[in-house]
Amino acid sequence: MRIALAAGDGIGPEIMDATLGLFAAAGVTRHVEFVPAEMGASVFAAGNTRGMTDAAVRTVEECGILFKGPMETPKGGGGKSINVTARKMWSAYANYRHFRTLPGVQTPFSHLDLNFAIVRENVEDTYGGVEHRLSDDVMTGKRIITAPGSDAVLRFTFETARRMGIDTVHCGHKANIMKMTDGLFLERFKALAAEYPGIQTGDVIVDALCMNLVMRPQQYKMVVLTNLQGDIVSDLAAGLVGGLGFAPSANIGRNISIFEAVHGTAPDIAGKGLANPTALVLSGLMMLRHVGLVSQAATIENALLAALESGVHTGDFGDRSKPSVGTTEFTKAIVDRLGQEPRTVKPVATGGTDTVTFRVPPKPEEPTVMHTFRGLRKEVAGIDAYLDAEHPAGETAARLERTCEGTPFRLTLISCRGTQVWPRGSAFTECVDYWRARFELREDASAHQDDAVELLRKVASGFTVSQYELLRTFDGVRGWTLPQGQ
Ligand code: NAI
Repeated sequence: MRIALAAGDGIGPEIMDATLGLFAAAGVTRHVEFVPAEMGASVFAAGNTRGMTDAAVRTVEECGILFKGPMETPKGGGGKSINVTARKMWSAYANYRHFRTLPGVQTPFSHLDLNFAIVRENVEDTYGGVEHRLSDDVMTGKRIITAPGSDAVLRFTFETARRMGIDTVHCGHKANIMKMTDGLFLERFKALAAEYPGIQTGDVIVDALCMNLVMRPQQYKMVVLTNLQGDIVSDLAAGLVGGLGFAPSANIGRNISIFEAVHGTAPDIAGKGLANPTALVLSGLMMLRHVGLVSQAATIENALLAALESGVHTGDFGDRSKPSVGTTEFTKAIVDRLGQEPRTVKPVATGGTDTVTFRVPPKPEEPTVMHTFRGLRKEVAGIDAYLDAEHPAGETAARLERTCEGTPFRLTLISCRGTQVWPRGSAFTECVDYWRARFELREDASAHQDDAVELLRKVASGFTVSQYELLRTFDGVRGWTLPQGQ
């Protein structure tokens, strides 16, 4: 079994050395060959804006698994996060994070003996980074939520729950506000839940979820969320069990999976030998289980638990009245306990097979296209034209009404920042230089995209149209939302 390895930047090499040393001592390297993949700051510095060499890309695609340390995101200059790029380009769509109370890691929640997981959708949502400037004062970003993308992460969640014997799964969302995007995610959650009758399900609005996690976190066993909400909620969850030093993560894809700690490069302590390797070790344990090295993972986990309960700690956690140790000494404390079990917490069962279940799939010829719904009847119903304009809404409306004379469309509303200001609205609504003009089909009229584009051309002869959306019905169901106030 070959695993691509990128140690990362900052504290990355220190904690990766520690983790690999521990793995070697536990016999993992008899089963796994770690293959270096050049990624991170040095590659960016050499002028490669993707942050990974072509050879590294090939290595990861051939191995199917990447074990990585934290990597620095270049500040400014348009450099994208290599971490986000890796997850997206290799479709590692499910970010699985496990949170548990650990011995020797005191938090205000330690007495609750927490043990739960958060699954975050990892490739969609605002992380597409599809953003534009549309006027002097307005920036927008596209939030992309898809049915097959939602299905993939939801299916992973239910399958993981079933395999691990977790009997309750919640969906966190904001479907009360984002009716189409989060609405779709919630609808797919409910549709897939019906296929898993042995699992109880519930949904919870994300703001209430945050409060519940602080007030009574033990009520959750597994929560699945869209990308940005999942990002925020999972860091909150990490705080409940001791913070970044203890937050592992697995980015699971159909073909390629990436295992890494949640924390970054910790530039403030890099190179000083002070970093806590636990989060990377725990991420590595997820990886070992993923490839079937179950008993080795259990042996290492028991040694880690035994070391933590002994009180040995790096500077970022533990009993401040006792001296802390550096990365090397902390790791040695774990290695010295290989073969031992913790006494104050339940040991992890060392049984299980070492059968490697993971297989590198053959490389696809080209990017695959996924579907959930297919062949719906789509009919053009109008357009939304976004105007970069200073004129007041009433004057804009009068000009636009003249513009659409003789077309199959009529102007039905103007809104600003999602709130209707014409034909009804409030003089107290504060507006900016960016208006949405909605044109809908006149009664009994029908239209094709060509008609919509012709209307757009007419509108553009009098206004700057900085964005345009085609309004369509899908099997008769409206494919757009109403603005506030309509
Ligand atoms: P950070 O996670 O690197 O550091 C935040 C604080 O936590 C610092 O005080 C640091 O010393 C401490 N810390 C983090 N990990 C620790 C560990 N293992 N042991 C002891 N203390 C630890 O976050 P920051 O400073 O916001 O980001 C630094 C760089 O890391 C940035 O370039 C950022 O883009 C990158 N980053 C990379 C990630 C990844 O590769 N997955 C994730 C998050 C950030």
